Amino acid sequence: MTAIVDRHDAVAVVTIDRQEALNALNVETLTELRDRLRELADDDSARVVVLTGAGDRAFVAGADIKYMSGLGAEEAKEWGALGHEAARLLEEMPKPTIAAINGFALGGGCELALGCDLRYASSKARLGQPEIDLGIVPGWGGTQRLARVCGLGIAKELILTGRPVEAEEALRVGLVNAVADPVLEHALEVAQKLAAKSPVALRVAKRLLNLSPGALEREADEFGDLFASEDAREGLTAFAEKRPPRFVGR
Ligand code: CAA
Repeated sequence: MTAIVDRHDAVAVVTIDRQEALNALNVETLTELRDRLRELADDDSARVVVLTGAGDRAFVAGADIKYMSGLGAEEAKEWGALGHEAARLLEEMPKPTIAAINGFALGGGCELALGCDLRYASSKARLGQPEIDLGIVPGWGGTQRLARVCGLGIAKELILTGRPVEAEEALRVGLVNAVADPVLEHALEVAQKLAAKSPVALRVAKRLLNLSPGALEREADEFGDLFASEDAREGLTAFAEKRPPRFVGR
């Protein structure tokens, strides 16, 4: 099991545990995560869901790049759709979701955190959307949700440059709600407070706050299309070969 659920009274903590790859998500882990989130969405005894990563280095270091380096465009669309489903469950399930970002939250990891209603980061967390340096783009909601959370200017800078931010900068640009150590303890404290509120009012507040979604479907589609480019093939392969990519522009 690589997506583990623990109960703390009415709070469910989902821990992604694939530490040998800094909790990067392969098909098995992402499918398990999606399945656990589906169950928790329908489980009235779970009033708040907290998402975190196992170990002290990473929340989620992204989608598994080694797995993605073998994908064609159609497979990449399915892969994008699976990630979108997990992020959408976090965003739309009728109860608050909180990311306890205990380390790297890059690419798909940052996107899962952006799907959550609240984000707390440890002081050593590092967040970002580095996909551009792999010759691809964020594919699990980042182009829309980062802009919605931080504003279009910050989203453009972080996505076009791929530059990661430390916890303090993440707080300054509004990417996280607070920096706290130990972050899981802080997230649990907030979660317990939310669990004592009216679940009916929380559900309606969340639904209203989520109105006017962006172009998420378009992103899922174009993410997949990019996998037909030579640059995506090069960028994804170069990571596994531990060398800088040589992009050719097609
Ligand atoms: N996919 C697959 N494996 C990964 C990974 C990823 N996203 N991130 C880390 N790993 C693996 C490394 O390959 C390494 O495994 P090996 O020992 O077998 O080589 C192990 O985890 C430890 O990582 P590092 O040795 O690289 O650790 P580090 O401390 O030197 O660097 C890091 C840490 C800066 C996070 C670096 O691992 C890194 O840059 N990872 C990739 C981050 C990234 O680009 N994420 C975005 C992925 S694309 C995406 O998510 C698309 C999308 O929108 C859906």
